Amino acid sequence: MDEKDLSLKLEVIVAEAIQRLSKLNNTEELEKWRIQYFGRKGIFASMTSQIPSMPVEMKPQAGALINSAKRKLTEAFEERKKNLLTLQDKKTEFNLNFGLPGLKPETGSLHPVTLVSREIVRIFQGLGFGVHTGPEIETDFYNFEALNMPADHPARDMWDTFYLDSERKFLLRTHTSPVQIRVMEKISVPLRIIAIGKTFRRDDFDASHSPVFHQVEGLMVGPDITFSNLKAVLIFFLKELFGTRVKVNFLPSYFPFTEPSAEISISCVICEGKGCQTCGFTGWLEILGAGMVHPEVFRKSGIQQNNVTGFAFGAGLERIAMIKYGIDDIRQFYTGDMRFLKQFG
Ligand code: DAH
Repeated sequence: MDEKDLSLKLEVIVAEAIQRLSKLNNTEELEKWRIQYFGRKGIFASMTSQIPSMPVEMKPQAGALINSAKRKLTEAFEERKKNLLTLQDKKTEFNLNFGLPGLKPETGSLHPVTLVSREIVRIFQGLGFGVHTGPEIETDFYNFEALNMPADHPARDMWDTFYLDSERKFLLRTHTSPVQIRVMEKISVPLRIIAIGKTFRRDDFDASHSPVFHQVEGLMVGPDITFSNLKAVLIFFLKELFGTRVKVNFLPSYFPFTEPSAEISISCVICEGKGCQTCGFTGWLEILGAGMVHPEVFRKSGIQQNNVTGFAFGAGLERIAMIKYGIDDIRQFYTGDMRFLKQFG
């Protein structure tokens, strides 16, 4: 074989290799092709191995021709590889099904207690009441003493208390009533406020008890505030909350921090007063405690004016939500079960 034959042979090899290259469909086929030409036992290796047996004057030329052929094929190979890779990327892209509906992010919903709380704030703000808060960890003074329950007062037994220290000075507030004292210490008369927040009692969980729950507290203080003002505000509030058809009933009751005290019921929202399981066949649902602020409470809060009177009230938010939404187990509020919670927002 002379130089010309070799050159021709290489041209044919290159042309054929390039044509085959253009027909390869994936990187595996490409690799096979590379091994066939450039591998240890490949076509170029075998051609190079023949150089030593060639006539001396032909050796340098043969080496140059083979190298140039190798360069051409290397270039062609790199080019093809690049094309195949982008093609493969595109394919994966197009394997995605753009017609499928997207994954919707879970949206939250408002907890029924939040809903009721917002509704109550809306109603009282409309009546000019401010919204206040107080600490969940309270002292004996604010939770009991200032509310006319000195140490050993039997009324303290109305609330099973979580004490935080052995001296029983600090506790988790058993009701929102201590906010009344804090507000009267801070802002001057006349005042009208509500306070909403968590309250704690040493109760075991059952269908109507929870060791943590929420209350709303109300307080209106000014010159010559009367029981009629109390009735007007609470009847308006309850009709806004439960609808105008609801009837409101006031019964005498006892709380150490009010005198006189009242227990307020609404006609059963389920049976409209006829009597059913929800209202224990009485036709009434107890909803609020209220009364005229006891003079001792004013004294403990530092209010001394003679003609100043006031009323106060308190209610449980879970109980309001249970009545409003027809929920029969308070534990539902605390399970975090979205199937339940989603029904109200
Ligand atoms: N603090 C009372 C309770 O937890 C509820 C209450 C009753 C609050 C009468 C008041 C009130 O402000 O006047 O049972």
